[in-house]
Amino acid sequence: MIFSGQSNVPLAQEIADNLGVPLGKSTTERFANDCLFVRYEQSLREGDVFIIQSLTPPVQDHLVELLMMIDAAKSSSAARVTAVIPYYAYARSDKKDAPRISITARLVADLIQTAGADRVLTMTLHSAQVHGFFKIPVDHLSAEPVIANYFATRVENLENAVIVAPDAGDLKRASALARRLALPLAFIDKQRLSDTEVTSRGLVGNVKGRTALIIDDEVSTAGTLVQAVDVLKQNGAEAVYAAFTHGVYVGPAIERIEKSPILEVAATNTCLYKGQPSPKLQTLSVGPLFAEAIWRTHRGESVSSLFT
Ligand code: R5P
Repeated sequence: MIFSGQSNVPLAQEIADNLGVPLGKSTTERFANDCLFVRYEQSLREGDVFIIQSLTPPVQDHLVELLMMIDAAKSSSAARVTAVIPYYAYARSDKKDAPRISITARLVADLIQTAGADRVLTMTLHSAQVHGFFKIPVDHLSAEPVIANYFATRVENLENAVIVAPDAGDLKRASALARRLALPLAFIDKQRLSDTEVTSRGLVGNVKGRTALIIDDEVSTAGTLVQAVDVLKQNGAEAVYAAFTHGVYVGPAIERIEKSPILEVAATNTCLYKGQPSPKLQTLSVGPLFAEAIWRTHRGESVSSLFT
């Protein structure tokens, strides 16, 4: 049984269509006092229930709705409940890197488990160790095959390209993609100044005369992206493309992308884009990948072998 929270119904519908099952019926309402109300409109007894909810803005609403849906499914006698979280917000709060702060990625994991989830299915966590905050099984999908296919089909003269990690946190991901596409790797030494501003201390690697292909887990305000594009252009890159698993696109993101000399920005549909269409933005679908992972989970088959 596939149900959707309100954050990304088109992705949930795509997953259900790929599985050949109807999207389950549920209602979410908001009381006058701002509290949410969730109710399933069909029996869940002994069902293998998958609840799809991306933790996109408004993050707190979507998180609480997910927790309520898990709780209601458990108390409606579902046999098993899997929280399918294509975009896991708070994943960047994964360590105590300042005094007196919350490791919120762990707190969110605690909440999901306390609500009663038996499993989690997610994609491209900001840092893989967030996986370890859960005591229940987590299947951590990768958008790498989808992104590799985008670059391979979209970029002319791919053999003249270079994969770029826009910060240290992306090096492993970028290196894996570079190996998959048999391309060299470059890396930008990024320093974050604030939530929306970043600066760079330079580039490691050679991009001169090449097409630079940036890969990152998410684009949020696009500060990291436009800074990386500037550095790449200053170092002689001929053209720049970027691909992200999560296109969160908040605040000045779209304006920054429009003004930047970047040719195209692609992101998967883990996050529903509600902004104005832009010729620079491409959406890549991960619906079939989630559907296959759900099917395999339901049948008790290996999910990791999807990526080998
Ligand atoms: C940070 O380490 C992440 O990998 C992304 O680079 C970051 O979330 C992007 O945020 P923004 O688009 O706001 O620079």
